[in-house]
Amino acid sequence: MELFDITGKRALVTGGSRGIGLALARMLKEAGARVAVFYHGTPVKEEGFIPVKCDLLDAADTRRAFAEAKEALGGIDILINAAGLHKKDDAEHFPAEEWEEILRVNVVAAFRVSQLAGREMIAQGGGKIVNICSVRSVLAGDRSSAYSASKAALLQMTKALAKEWGKHHINVNGLAPGYILTDMTAPSMNDPETGGRLLSHTPLGRFGEMEDLKGALLFLCSRASDYVTGILLPVDGGFLC
Ligand SMILES: NC(=O)c1ccc[n+]([C@@H]2O[C@H](COP(=O)([O-])OP(=O)(O)OC[C@H]3O[C@@H](n4cnc5c(N)ncnc54)[C@H](O)[C@@H]3O)[C@@H](O)[C@H]2O)c1
Repeated sequence: MELFDITGKRALVTGGSRGIGLALARMLKEAGARVAVFYHGTPVKEEGFIPVKCDLLDAADTRRAFAEAKEALGGIDILINAAGLHKKDDAEHFPAEEWEEILRVNVVAAFRVSQLAGREMIAQGGGKIVNICSVRSVLAGDRSSAYSASKAALLQMTKALAKEWGKHHINVNGLAPGYILTDMTAPSMNDPETGGRLLSHTPLGRFGEMEDLKGALLFLCSRASDYVTGILLPVDGGFLC
């Protein structure tokens, strides 16, 4: 068996209807996995995906959606927690409900889906969980108290789950993309001043492309990473330097 082979693996991707989640779901599908995606809002109309509607803010809906995805896939080998929310605001004015919503999607929901997947993976003797963290898991962003707190929490949750579930052969890792143009990052990246500053902190001298995430994704989802758990793998052009 090839080191990076994931043919026939059963994968669930949250936030799979657009942006990074959709790109990662496509990569898994192209690599031969069977892929279910959670979408919220616009349905995902991609050939070959199992689309499952899910509002991650709703615990009951998440349980229902997970059961549906598991049933359609016949189990779960790979979970990618890619759903996320971001909003910039001054800390002294940040509306409390929006601050909490960011934590609820980025951390609480990621835990909830990990718990559901973890139970299945424990029963079947192993699995791979990849949490889409951020350079903001390590370096705080401008006017981004909620997002920075949430992504740091997601990284620490990654390590905590890796510690607990190592004995069950479940690898739990974080992938930290650098700046890639999506609906979420367009306001910062398209602003000449902010975009220029972000680029000046990127040693490789360019923003990321979806394709840049492929090697790290396949590594973290395949046998190649069987002795790797609890890490943050930055794919960020060197931003964290
Ligand atoms: N774009 C970047 O440069 C970048 C960098 C680092 C990390 N990330 C992370 O990558 C992930 C994807 O971000 P993106 O840039 O593609 O942004 P995006 O806004 O295009 O995607 C976010 C996804 O989360 C989903 N989502 C939000 N709230 C939800 C809810 N209540 N229920 C279900 N789904 C919900 C959305 O439907 C969407 O599919 C996020 O976790 C983000 O923090 C992005």
